[in-house]
Amino acid sequence: MTAQPFLYVVVCAAGIAGDAHKLITAAHKQKWGVGVIATPQGLGFLDAEAIEAQTGYPIRSAWRSPGDPRPLPPADAVAVAPATFNTINKWAAGIADTLALGILCEAYGMGIPTAVLPYVNAAMAAHPAYGRSLDQLRDMGVLVGSYEPHRPKAGGGADRFRWEEALELLTPALVGKTAN
Ligand SMILES: Cc1cc2nc3c(=O)[nH]c(=O)nc-3n(C[C@H](O)[C@H](O)[C@H](O)COP(=O)(O)O)c2cc1C
Repeated sequence: MTAQPFLYVVVCAAGIAGDAHKLITAAHKQKWGVGVIATPQGLGFLDAEAIEAQTGYPIRSAWRSPGDPRPLPPADAVAVAPATFNTINKWAAGIADTLALGILCEAYGMGIPTAVLPYVNAAMAAHPAYGRSLDQLRDMGVLVGSYEPHRPKAGGGADRFRWEEALELLTPALVGKTAN
């Protein structure tokens, strides 16, 4: 492998999305190029200017117009962090009504290694659809992070959310795959 591997970081509208720069920093340390795709709701949680300065690429959130150049190189791997209840359920069900979901749904068919770090409270996680969605994603080969849902209305669990776990999950899956 000679080319620099490229990671798409998909950011959803969860309380800790504003810390996504931590994953970008960790990925850069491991020599990844990084592009961020935010859900339309997730975009509001990010300091877009700071993220674009950090990655060197525009944040993608909406589909480009036909004929426009592709703003990001192709992905060698995808990390969804943080992943919301909403996006996890829609992704598992094959709904692609945001650019982020379109990329995730397509990544499966393209065989692109994908990791998801859910950030969901225990009340949302108790909904039967959530467990089914995670099972579906695991069946699709998606690597699921170990974060245990936090208590609702208790301030979240940012202190135990391990951004770098996305890279730990993806690295073994990438052996022999990253030719770009
Ligand atoms: C301040 C705030 C924090 C939120 N935190 C979370 C969260 O941690 N996890 C989650 O699943 N949803 C959270 N939500 C709800 C999602 O933002 C909402 O379901 C949204 O539709 C998700 O959109 P997306 O999946 O397209 O990013 C939060 C909403 C707000 C306003």
